[in-house]
Amino acid sequence: MIYKFADNRNYQDYSSGRVLYNLPGTTSFPVRLASEIYQRCAAVLSAGGVNAPYSLYDPCCGGAYLLTCIGFLHGREISGIYASDIDRKMVSLAEKNLSLLTREGLQKRIEQIEGMYAAYGKESHLEALKSALRLKDVLDSMDGDIDIRCFTADITRARGLTDYINNVNMVITDLPYGNIVSWSGQPDEKQAVQGLLENILPVLSSGSLVSVVSNKRTKIDCERYRRIEMFTAGKRKITILQPVYRE
Ligand SMILES: C[S@@+](CC[C@H](N)C(=O)[O-])C[C@H]1O[C@@H](n2cnc3c(N)ncnc32)[C@H](O)[C@@H]1O
Repeated sequence: MIYKFADNRNYQDYSSGRVLYNLPGTTSFPVRLASEIYQRCAAVLSAGGVNAPYSLYDPCCGGAYLLTCIGFLHGREISGIYASDIDRKMVSLAEKNLSLLTREGLQKRIEQIEGMYAAYGKESHLEALKSALRLKDVLDSMDGDIDIRCFTADITRARGLTDYINNVNMVITDLPYGNIVSWSGQPDEKQAVQGLLENILPVLSSGSLVSVVSNKRTKIDCERYRRIEMFTAGKRKITILQPVYRE
C-alpha cells in the first residue's frame, strides 16, 4: 500500500510491553498503519466540514493498543477516546494503557520502570525508561486533557451505548480474526459485523466515519452505510464507511 500521510519513521517507543502494557494473548497493531487510518479519516472529515477536535471509539478495543498509539500520535486533535470490549480483562488492560495518556498514569508507569531498572539494571528497562520520557514530552506538548472512557460491551448485541458515550466522530476498530482472537457472543461473523455496524449508529455524530480493519475475505458492508474507501495493508483490509441517514 502507499502511505499518504503516516511517516516511515521509528515507532519503537510504542512497542507493546515496553511502555504500553500488554498481557499474554493480546494483539498489537502496526503503529504506522494506525496513524495512516486516523489521518485518512481526519482528512475526509475535515473535507466534509467536520474539523478537529475529534472523538474516537473502538468497540472491540482489546488492550486499547491501537487507541493509545493514536492518542499519543494525534492527541492534539483529539477530545475523547472511548474503548469497549466484551472481555472484562481486556477492558482493564485498556484502562491501564489509556491512563498513559494522562500525566498521573504516565508518571506512575515511569516510576514503575525506574523501579525495575533500579532492581535489575537491565538494558531493556533503560530503553523503556527513555521511551517513557519521550512519551512524556509528547504528552506535555498537548493542550487539554482527553476524555477517556472504558466499558464492557458485547458490541454484536449492545443496546444503550448512549449511556456511556455520544457524538463520536470516528470509529476505528480491528475486528477479531485469525488465531489469537475470535468473535465472542455471536459465532456467525457476518451477523457479528452487521450487529456492530448497527449498534454503533446511535452514538455516531453526523458525518462521522467508521474504519473497520478485517482480514481480506470478510465482507464489510451494511445498507445503512456507504463505502468511502477501501485499501489493503499486508494481510489486512481497511474499509472506511459513512452512515447514510434517510429522511
Ligand atoms: C483484534 S482484537 C483488538 C485489538 C485492539 N485493536 C488493540 O489494539 O489492542 C479484537 C477484540 O475483539 C474483542 N471481541 C470479540 N468479540 C467481541 C464482541 N462480541 N464484542 C466486543 N468485543 C469483542 C476481543 O475480546 C478482542 O479483544
